[in-house]
Order: sequence, then structure tokens, then C-alpha cells
Amino acid sequence: MTQSIPVVHIALIDSDRETLSAIEEMLRPYGDRLNVCLSSTSFNSSLESLQKLAPKVVILGVSDLGQGIEQVKAIHNSSPWSTIFVTSIEKNSDWILGMMRAGAIEYLLKPIEKAELFEALQKASKLWIGTNVEEVKKKGKVVTVYNPIGGMGTTTIAVNLAAVLAKGDDKIALVDLNLFSGDVATFLDIMPRYTLTSVTSNLSRLDANFLMSVMTQHSSGVYLLSEPLELDETIGITPEQIEKMLEFLKGVFSYVIVDTGGLMFGANEAVFRSSNMILYNTVMNLPALKTAKRYLAAFDKRGVQRDKIRILVNRFLSKADIRVQDAERLLDRKVFLTIPNEYGDVNDSINKGVPVVNLYPRSTMSKAVVSLAELVKQQMA
Ligand SMILES: Nc1ncnc2c1ncn2[C@@H]1O[C@H](COP(=O)(O)OP(=O)(O)OP(=O)(O)O)[C@@H](O)[C@H]1O
Ligand SMILES: [Mg+2]
Repeated sequence: MTQSIPVVHIALIDSDRETLSAIEEMLRPYGDRLNVCLSSTSFNSSLESLQKLAPKVVILGVSDLGQGIEQVKAIHNSSPWSTIFVTSIEKNSDWILGMMRAGAIEYLLKPIEKAELFEALQKASKLWIGTNVEEVKKKGKVVTVYNPIGGMGTTTIAVNLAAVLAKGDDKIALVDLNLFSGDVATFLDIMPRYTLTSVTSNLSRLDANFLMSVMTQHSSGVYLLSEPLELDETIGITPEQIEKMLEFLKGVFSYVIVDTGGLMFGANEAVFRSSNMILYNTVMNLPALKTAKRYLAAFDKRGVQRDKIRILVNRFLSKADIRVQDAERLLDRKVFLTIPNEYGDVNDSINKGVPVVNLYPRSTMSKAVVSLAELVKQQMA
């Protein structure tokens, strides 16, 4: 079956006419693929059109920091599925950070270079969920990072694993299933407008388009689905809903990374059933290893296949009393990988709301997460 390549609609908003013409000129030779559906000098009159046109990309010219941030947020609200590029003459990192945090994914310096614009479009295109039927049918893998007790760096691993995987060509979803105490959004410093309940309560109308409009796109490329904002909303979420949602996500994303904790009941049962790989995350101390032993036995009892589970040792210190061999003997399983204890880098990253792998790519922590991502990809291939 031959499929036509979808046209990418692009809206241009800039009070400077010259910039508008320059971008139009760059895109014109590719008109059959890249269509300028709006070119306007007025931000206010453009907002309504954006809602109707739902362009894939909005390129917004900004000349004032505060106003620019508000405009990016307003575009995000009225056209949640548009990818926003900001263009400005301002090189200041506060501007770049401010725009990214408001929801822009690219910051292009004026005068815009054609090569940079096309590179940005190419980078963004891998974040778009195609309307391509084959693509939606493709089965992704669910990789769950789990520890029942918490405080072992499970969220740290999930967030960074997702961010590393997103550096490649794959589309990555990150789902926070710590329904009562999720903090993935905080780790990524984003304020999602929609959460898990937007999906679970709309399962009957779920399609790729709807899904994309409720997931929050982070500048790392990861698409986030976070825990409900209100605790009461959590109560109505059923395991069946979680299972259906994960099945659907598998059809759209290459990898769905789930961060979860707590008991092995309810939603977690559905998560474990749907997971292709469960990274049981622990630290190397006796209480944590004893807990691991109990929970691994419980996985066995519940019929969760052994070969789905991998033991991940976080906060690993090579000179500690308990060695990897000791843990392997106690758990009667091989350790999949150790992630070093890098408190300073990890804490910095959490406080700044940027994954370690993006903030400190050379940190031993980042290198270990890159190895983890490679292993996961190898074993899930
Ligand atoms: N590899 C690491 N090296 C050093 N410190 C780490 C590492 N991973 C996580 N931490 C620290 O452990 C603490 C807990 O991390 P995190 O929130 O990721 O754990 P969690 O298991 O998800 O906890 P929660 O129970 O809150 O969900 C954080 O303070 C973080 O800085
Ligand atoms: Mg956590």
C-alpha cells in the first residue's frame, strides 16, 4: 500500500515583516511538504486561527521576555499539538530557558539560518505522531521501573532512561503511575495541563490525536503523562483502564517508560501484565535487598514471568560492604546493571528540573543510564 507523505502545516507569527518573508522564502521550494498556513504580524488575531488550523509548527518571533513567555503559553493552550519554535535576536540564556519552560522546543537566533531552521524541523518531526496507519499499528515496548517502598531513585532512573531514549529516533512516553505521590512532572519542571485521568476517563474516544493533545511534550523530546492533580481523581482509576491505556500507548510510542511504586495490587497488577520489561530498582543495603527478595517471590507467585524482571542496583558504591555477588546470591538472580551513587549531580538535576543526562552528560551517572538504555534496546529488539 502506498501512502502519501503528509503535508506539514506551519504558522508564522512575527511583528517583523522581514522575518516573515525570509522564512516564507526558505520554505517556498518545499511547498509540497511544508505549507505556510498562516503568516501574521499580529499575535492576538492569530490565536483563533491557530485553533482552527491546528498547525504542526508555530514559529513565533519574540522581542520581550515576559510577553514572549505568555504568548508561548497561550499558543500551547489554544493549539496544544503545535510544536513551538521561538525566534529572537536575544542570546541571553534566561530567555532561552524561559521560552523552553513555557513550552517552546526550539530557540532560533535571528537572522534565521536556513540550515538551522531545517535542522529544527527535522528534529521536531520525530516528535510528531504520524497519521500514518502503519506507524500507529506498530507495537512499542513498556518498560517499568519499580520499587515498592520508594526513596531508591526509581523516578530518577525512569526520567533519565526516557530522556536518553528520546535522543535517538524513537518516540518515547513517560507515564507516572505513582498515583498518590507522583513527581515526574517536578523532575522535568513542567506543569501538565492534562493528566492520566484525561486519558482513563476518555478511553472510548482515545485515538492518536487525542492522546497527543493530552500528553505534555518536554524539551528532551519525552512525552509525559503525569499522575492526577487531585487525589480524589485517583480513586476512580481502574486496572482495566490502565491496561487499555498502556496498550494504546504501545501502538503510538516505541517505548513507554512507566515509573511506579507501592503494592502489587490494582493498577500495578495491570502495569506488570502490560510490561515487556520490569526494572526492579533497589539499593545495596540489607533491608532493601530483603524487600527485593520478598517482592521477587511475590512476582513469581503472581505468575509474572521471571525473564521480564531485571535487577537494577541504584546508588551503587564499589567499596561497599555488600558486593554484587552477595546480592545475586541472596536474590538468586543476576544483577542487570549498577548505577553509581552520584548524589551531587542527581540532586542538582532534580532541583533544576533537568534530567542528569541532559544537564551533565559526562557524569558517570549519565554514562550508566546511557548503558542502561542500550541494554534495554538490545534486549527489547
Ligand atoms: N544514582 C544516584 N546517586 C545518588 N543519589 C541518587 C541517585 N538516584 C537517586 N538519588 C537520590 O535519591 C533520592 C530519591 O530519588 P527519587 O525521587 O528518584 O526516588 P524514588 O524511589 O522515586 O522516591 P519516591 O518514593 O519519592 O517516589 C533523591 O534525593 C535523589 O537525589
Ligand atoms: Mg518516585
